[in-house]
Amino acid sequence: MLTIAVSKGRIYEDALPLLEAAGIVPLDDPKKCRKLILDTNRDDVRLIIIRATDVPTFVEHGAADLGIAGKDVLLEHGAQTLYEPLDLGIARCRMMTATFVDAPPMGRRVRVATKYVKTAKSYFANLGIQAEIIKLYGSMELAPLVGLADCIVDLVETGNTLKANGLEPKELICEISSRLVVNKASMKMKHALIQPLIDQFEITLANQ
Ligand code: ATP
Ligand code: PRP
Repeated sequence: MLTIAVSKGRIYEDALPLLEAAGIVPLDDPKKCRKLILDTNRDDVRLIIIRATDVPTFVEHGAADLGIAGKDVLLEHGAQTLYEPLDLGIARCRMMTATFVDAPPMGRRVRVATKYVKTAKSYFANLGIQAEIIKLYGSMELAPLVGLADCIVDLVETGNTLKANGLEPKELICEISSRLVVNKASMKMKHALIQPLIDQFEITLANQ
């Protein structure tokens, strides 16, 4: 049995066509049912539906053989214990700093609100800027508006969320897309099941 960890929402929606091209079709829709384990048309493949940030943990511990996770989540998790064989090119966005439109240039000290604590710490440290990182779990855009932080580190796709809150993107930290991750032991023990799947994803991506 192969277990693939996917998060509900945009990653699931974007991953469906890739899975389908590899001959894997879930039998239920996570938007319409509360099941956390989805059987597929293949007796030897199932999906588990978990939070995006939990995907590396499930794969690392072997509770899932494979997973699909955003690079943002993988950077934060520090997932050196996972194979990351493929950039699936889905759920694309950018991790950026953002603050008020017309904010003065950043000084040597800055208060930064983000859910990406590790990534933000290392980004500002590399610039030689002393950053006080304030961990939030969402609605980061609010932090500069209410004086909690000078800037934020968050994901930007269209820029609409920032704009709606009077903020604008400033510096690019890194390009983000979702990656296929594989448990190292599974890669060895279930190679005959996993490698053809990776090959098929590669073919689909190459033909896009
Ligand atoms: P969790 O439920 O664990 O808190 P989340 O709410 O961030 O995670 P999603 O919003 O579904 O979950 O995001 C999943 C992934 O999709 C992110 O890790 C990121 O890689 C990517 N992503 C997030 N926001 C965007 C966006 N606006 N455009 C494109 N991709 C995005
Ligand atoms: C993500 C991210 C930004 C927004 C950026 O939030 O945290 O707030 O998308 O996208 P945009 O540049 O196109 O506006 P998401 O939609 O995942 O909401 P959530 O953080 O509340 O889950």
